[in-house]
Amino acid sequence: MSTESAPGPVRLCARDDLAPGEARCFVVEGRRVALARLGEEFFAVDDTCSHADFSLSEGDVDVDECALECPAHGSLFDLRTGEALTLPAVVPVATHGVVISDEGVFVTLRERWRA
Ligand code: FES
Repeated sequence: MSTESAPGPVRLCARDDLAPGEARCFVVEGRRVALARLGEEFFAVDDTCSHADFSLSEGDVDVDECALECPAHGSLFDLRTGEALTLPAVVPVATHGVVISDEGVFVTLRERWRA
């Protein structure tokens, strides 16, 4: 049994560093994480698309669908669940915990690297 635990909250940026409708990639514990802002809410998912090696944070934030669109082939990923909402991607991406405080936006990785 592994005793390795996820790291604690890591500060990514100040709240206003990201404009509403913007996404940006941060490296947390060696893992690429896409942080997206929708209005006053923030969401964090794995930055690498599950279909191929492209950065989701370089895609558009779909405010209506609460999703991030892969810039390569257009799959939408639900920012709340990580689910691939449209083809060609079918595998979800991991979601991560986000906490906002006066000190900024913090993320907690929910799982270690998947094999
Ligand atoms: S690389 Fe993301 S949908 Fe193809």
